[in-house]
Amino acid sequence: MTRWDPDQYLQFADHRLRPALELMARIPLAECRTIWDLGCGAGNVTRLLAERWPGAKVTGVDSSAEMLAKARPIAGVEWTTGDIGQWRPPAPADLVFSNAALHWLDDHRGLFARLIAGVVKGGVLAVQMPRNFAALSHTLLYETARRQPWAAKLTPLLRKTPVSAPQDYYDWLAPHAASLDIWETEYLHVLAGDNAVVEWTKGTAVRPFLDALDAGEQSAFLAAYTERMAAAYPQRSDGTTLFPFRRLFIVARK
Ligand SMILES: C[S@@+](CC[C@H](N)C(=O)[O-])C[C@H]1O[C@@H](n2cnc3c(N)ncnc32)[C@H](O)[C@@H]1O
Repeated sequence: MTRWDPDQYLQFADHRLRPALELMARIPLAECRTIWDLGCGAGNVTRLLAERWPGAKVTGVDSSAEMLAKARPIAGVEWTTGDIGQWRPPAPADLVFSNAALHWLDDHRGLFARLIAGVVKGGVLAVQMPRNFAALSHTLLYETARRQPWAAKLTPLLRKTPVSAPQDYYDWLAPHAASLDIWETEYLHVLAGDNAVVEWTKGTAVRPFLDALDAGEQSAFLAAYTERMAAAYPQRSDGTTLFPFRRLFIVARK
């Protein structure tokens, strides 16, 4: 299981928060009694769900002890350790929400069928996932992982692109949904600092690869990846680095 570092992840908290806010803005529910936040991480978005629907019972689910340790001090939310792959609510919920987490799971056809089954009639499944796996930030990571001396440890970790085309989600959810609102946004993140895109991916996509390496291998691997990334995402004369990033949004009303 991936070992998360909440501080590394939250280094770009403002850039990472915006898609969650844009997803929340499209949820057409005035009232909510039960909300599940799947892959709640450090809880910064879960907190906003609890604030928007103050009467609701809000539960954050995550498999990372490190992330949940950061989330637990947030009041008004129940925090549960669990695997989204096994998740089933005790009773169908008004809102099943997941921001930037479901791309860590495979078999989205089966997963989304199960998630929408956990929503009451009139309720909502709201999901945001990165769909940026063909970008250089990721392809250079995979390319580096395939090189010696890391290939033996890292190639087993390479996954088929986990997030499907928007039309696939439409096809899978339409038989179960009264309405579907699906869109993509490509952000142009303006990042500060040196090796900014590597700092970004070190909080997410790079983590499983680092976990599989020992300390010496980690620094050599990061150096090789960083060298390739510097050419792909050059730092500009004002010190910023531009990082285009595409995300998929799904709001399914049952
Ligand atoms: C990129 S973070 C997003 C956190 C939060 N939703 C946010 O928007 O800030 C992804 C989270 O998904 C969690 N996660 C990934 N796979 C999971 C799984 N199978 N079950 C539960 N949590 C999972 C990770 O532990 C991590 O905290």
